[in-house]
Order: sequence, then C-alpha cells, then structure tokens
Amino acid sequence: MKKIINIAIFASGGGSNAQKIMAHFQGSEVGCVSLVVCNKKGAGVIQIAESFGVPVVTIDRQMFYETEQLLEILKNYKIDFIALAGFLWLAPAYLVRAYPRRIVNIHPALLPKFGGKGMYGHHVHEAVKAAGEIESGPTIHFVDEHYDEGDVIFQIACPLNADDSPDEIARKVLALEHQYYPIIIEEQIKLIDSNVSIGRLFD
Ligand code: GAR
Repeated sequence: MKKIINIAIFASGGGSNAQKIMAHFQGSEVGCVSLVVCNKKGAGVIQIAESFGVPVVTIDRQMFYETEQLLEILKNYKIDFIALAGFLWLAPAYLVRAYPRRIVNIHPALLPKFGGKGMYGHHVHEAVKAAGEIESGPTIHFVDEHYDEGDVIFQIACPLNADDSPDEIARKVLALEHQYYPIIIEEQIKLIDSNVSIGRLFD
C-alpha cells in the first residue's frame, strides 16, 4: 500500500490557498497537510492552520538563509512535498537540493510574463492591468533557486475586460488558484514513488 505523502505548506499571507489545500486533503488517502511553515508572525494562515489542527512552525530570515535547521524540522515531520502558497522568500539552495522537483509554487500570472523579484500579490495584477493584457491566470511551477523560473506544471487563463481593475483581476485569478492548486498538488504527489519519498530517505 502506498504511504500517505506528507505535505508542508509554506505561506506568509492570508492563507486562502492554504485553506483550500488543507480542506482538499482532509480525510485523503493520498496526502496529508502535516505542517505549515510561516515567516510572518500574526499571518492569517496561522489561525487557518490551527482550525485544521495543523502544526505551524514560524521561521525568520536568519534561520532560513544562514542555517539548515529547517531541514531537521521537515525531517521530524517526515515531509515529502512542499507547496508554496503566498510565500515570498526565495528558496535557498539546501532546500531545493533536499526536495528536487518536490517543491511547487503558485504565481498569480501567466509566467514567464509578470514574474521575478518584487512580482507578487497586487504588484502582479497592477502590472497586468498597466500592460493592457486581455487575459491572466495562475501558473503552478516547480521551485528552483530563482524567482518564478522553475518548470511550469500548469497554467490556466481567464479573459480580462478592458475595465477590470487590478482588484477584479486579482479576484478572477485567485478563484482559479483555489479551483486548481489542490488538484495539481494531488496529481504531483500521486507521481511520487513512496519507496523513494524524501521522508523515507531521511529515515
Ligand atoms: C496568491 O494569489 C498567490 O498566487 C500569490 O500570493 C497570493 C497569496 O494569497 N503568490 C505570489 O504572488 C508569489 N509570487 P493567499 O495567502 O490568500 O493564498
């Protein structure tokens, strides 16, 4: 029998995607959200995690970039797969190496357009509006050591109206994120061979 894949969600914002992912995997035989890693005290995602009974670990920059302590934590929770959901820090090399093609991110635009450093949240939607784009939508991609450059796993576009405000664009894109991110995560973890899952390798 396949073992259940342990997922960690890295998030630092309101956590609406994290909420959808946790709800999706409740009672699942495929995956379990076993940990939330957050880099912002008081972030909305912390309360959401608590409401699902998912433990939260808070990290700071020094720990994330100058130590590999996080790997020990991920090992303790037997984490096999990581989903970034509104987590804005660049993944350090040690993390990418420990989880090759096991870290995914969702970006609120059709990469490679509107990606890179500083392109997050409303900045993205304002840039999409300023460019007069006729469509936008989320991209789900593997994470490497560069901002928004890993291989694309999934994209979906929705049409934009000329008078859509950045907030309206954000609303349309976020609805697609919520609809597809949990499903794409499930598809990815189903591809993991439990015999070589990272959690097992750590043991
Ligand atoms: C989402 O729209 C996500 O695509 C975006 O942050 C938002 C988090 O919302 N991520 C980025 O911009 C990454 N570059 P949430 O906290 O409600 O899930």
